[in-house]
Amino acid sequence: MQGSIERALAVLAGGCDSPVRSGWSAGLPMFVQASAAGAYAYDESGRRYIDYIMGYGPLLFGHTHPELITGLDALAKHGFVWGSTHSEEIRLAERIAAYLPSMERMRFVTTGTEAMMSAVRVARAFTGRSRILKFAGNYHGHFDLALIDAGASAGTRTGGIPQGVRGDVLVARYNDLASVDERLDGNESELAAIIVEPIGANMGLVQPAGGFLEGLLRRARRAGALLIFDEVITWLRFGLRGAQGRTSVVPDLTALGKIMGGGLPIAAFGGRRDVMAVLAPEGTTFTGGTHGGNPFCVAMAHRVLDLLEAHPEYYSYMDGLARRLAGGLREIFAQRGLPYAVVQRESVVDFKFRAGPAAQNYDDACNADRAAYARYCAAMLERGVLLAPSQNEVMLLSTAHTAQDVDATLDAARNGLRAQ
Ligand SMILES: Cc1ncc(COP(=O)(O)O)c(C=O)c1O
Repeated sequence: MQGSIERALAVLAGGCDSPVRSGWSAGLPMFVQASAAGAYAYDESGRRYIDYIMGYGPLLFGHTHPELITGLDALAKHGFVWGSTHSEEIRLAERIAAYLPSMERMRFVTTGTEAMMSAVRVARAFTGRSRILKFAGNYHGHFDLALIDAGASAGTRTGGIPQGVRGDVLVARYNDLASVDERLDGNESELAAIIVEPIGANMGLVQPAGGFLEGLLRRARRAGALLIFDEVITWLRFGLRGAQGRTSVVPDLTALGKIMGGGLPIAAFGGRRDVMAVLAPEGTTFTGGTHGGNPFCVAMAHRVLDLLEAHPEYYSYMDGLARRLAGGLREIFAQRGLPYAVVQRESVVDFKFRAGPAAQNYDDACNADRAAYARYCAAMLERGVLLAPSQNEVMLLSTAHTAQDVDATLDAARNGLRAQ
């Protein structure tokens, strides 16, 4: 009987649906998962791992929060997909707009990729221009232009992207307005939009420097272009008002995804009323989708918002756990004389195997010891801790993690690093 990895390699391209899962980036064998519960993932032998991947973002409440997984039969009785506008998606849009007033009008889609792809099309239609300025190391999904100099596990894998698409993309350095100005020089009149992760989470955790987002908005305005926030990771991870709630900068368009479905696929894009008016049937720009706003996923999105509204303490709980984890890692590094900066913002923790202050951009993030991370990742797995097999990913805490989980993780890190 072949093992699962061999069987996967035989019938799934690269053995997986998303390359990061294959472990290639850290040179690790693929982790084949059998089940999940709370903060834990289980392999096929039934071994338990403390899970910091959390589905690469959606699982703010861990894997199986009772409020999300009960009563699904009753929901299913109404049908999964209707193909019609319905009152619960209207109510969901109203709830989202109440937290994100910049999203005056929106449309529901299925994935973050679709949300960003659609937002970019809307910006192009509204401005009548085609150039997009993006940042190296940000990840916006796997549509053509998004993959140019992307973070996460995309890297340089840009096969299949037409040359013409490349010509429309300007790539600047995150947190570096001078690099933005350089790229915009001579291109302003053709610029449709600047797209950005308002808190970077696909080159490790990279926070926007003071004035960076404000500078982007000023430059977008000067060029007559739009500013698009990719909040696919950050909305609900950083509170009900997302990353835009933490800055005075109001984006023209926003993309949402991941946590909003509580693990089910639902995403959204939206923004200024006048901008969204380019969409058919009012305008001449088309987006659509069989599963957009399907009632099952919409119901789950309401449950996610219900949970967060009922439990405002969840955010401080996760922040406390993440501080404990980050503080513990700092202590371990200090004891071992390792000059690594640990960054933590609310429920996200990250560090790189590189000396010096926290990474500010993708150049910094790439200038880390990948082999050391691979060894660390393998050592943690051996000790029952599941980390993303890529240094571009971050550690994600959830409401299901406990202080005991964090302490067990710190023990694993202490022993794992000692053994290297
Ligand atoms: C910031 C950001 N935008 C967009 C996406 C794409 O979302 P999806 O994988 O749902 O297509 C991701 C996925 O990791 C992301 O992190």
